[in-house]
Amino acid sequence: MHRKLIRPLFPWLILLPLLILLLYSLTASLRAPISPSPRPKKISASLTCDLFKGQWNRDPNRRPIYDETCPFHRNAWNCLRNQRDNMGSINSWKWVPQTCDLPQIDPFRFLDLMRNRNIGFVGDSLNENFVTSFLCSLRVADLGAKKWKRKGAWKGAYFPNFNVTVAYHRAVLLAKYKWQPKYSASGDQSQSEGVYRVDVDIPADDWANITNFYDVLVFNTGHWWGYDKFPKETPLVFYRAGRPILPALEMLDGLKLVLKHMVSHIQKEIPRKTIKFWRLQSPRHFYGGEWNQNGSCLFNEPLQESQTFGLIQATMG
Ligand SMILES: *[C@@H]1O[C@H](CO)[C@@H](O)[C@H](O)[C@H]1NC(C)=O
Ligand SMILES: *[C@@H]1O[C@H](CO)[C@@H](O)[C@H](O)[C@H]1NC(C)=O
Ligand SMILES: *[C@@H]1O[C@H](CO)[C@@H](O)[C@H](O)[C@H]1NC(C)=O
Repeated sequence: MHRKLIRPLFPWLILLPLLILLLYSLTASLRAPISPSPRPKKISASLTCDLFKGQWNRDPNRRPIYDETCPFHRNAWNCLRNQRDNMGSINSWKWVPQTCDLPQIDPFRFLDLMRNRNIGFVGDSLNENFVTSFLCSLRVADLGAKKWKRKGAWKGAYFPNFNVTVAYHRAVLLAKYKWQPKYSASGDQSQSEGVYRVDVDIPADDWANITNFYDVLVFNTGHWWGYDKFPKETPLVFYRAGRPILPALEMLDGLKLVLKHMVSHIQKEIPRKTIKFWRLQSPRHFYGGEWNQNGSCLFNEPLQESQTFGLIQATMG
């Protein structure tokens, strides 16, 4: 996103870490229901270690847990199969929390703990990236994993040995939006002129009514709130309760309002026992230009703290 867009958002962003803390605290315990057999295990996560405080270190012995045969990538995004340069060095990065060890995921143990449960992701392609790598990691423990795209999911997998579904629902703004063409005086519909109507209080169709299916939900949004995605000539126009909000909101004020409404929707409509996460930003896919302007992903190292300016992040305080 652009620097100048982000500035006005800063004071408000202090709310985000609070939200994360709230969501994170919900993970303290996920209790199995009273019924005896299908969900026998209690999952508990220690809160004594702040997993989010730490740094990326290189570990030359680290190998990816999966290989290029994983079937869940979009072809163009399969860095292993496409033999992107420096994959060895990229895969040697490891997140090390300050006060504890974070072992690499054990997909057998993870799926066993999640037996008969489902995990959903809702948001933009950065969440999709995360899901893809997550599906590939879990598949190591269940090679019978099948592609799963029901309930409006954009991608996902079912792990038959554990009866676990993990899926991604694409909703780049989280709220519902649609193209609204301009009509001329003669009633003709314009191809290129119009606006994108965003209903700040209505979740996108892709996840509106599926949340009860999931035991864990991970939300994100961020990179689509920029004029590179929605140019000023075809702007986002915000609606609430079915009526345009006046005076018209700037894009980032729209983002604030959408998040407020989506969070309250999530709190109201999604059962308490569902564990909810809010994911912060990660780097964009492209550097040095958009996808159609020779933009490329050339980094071999995680961003430095100083390079994250403009991302929605937790360290605003
Ligand atoms: C699989 O898990 C779902 C819950 O996600 C549960 O309703 C269903 O009974 C389970 N199926 C089997 C065969 O255990
Ligand atoms: C979701 O459910 C509500 C209430 O039943 C309904 O009004 C709405 O149209 C549904 N949305 C979608 C996208 O199915
Ligand atoms: C992309 O790179 C090619 C080859 O270097 C160049 O001809 C073209 O003008 C570039 N396009 C953009 C949009 O920068």
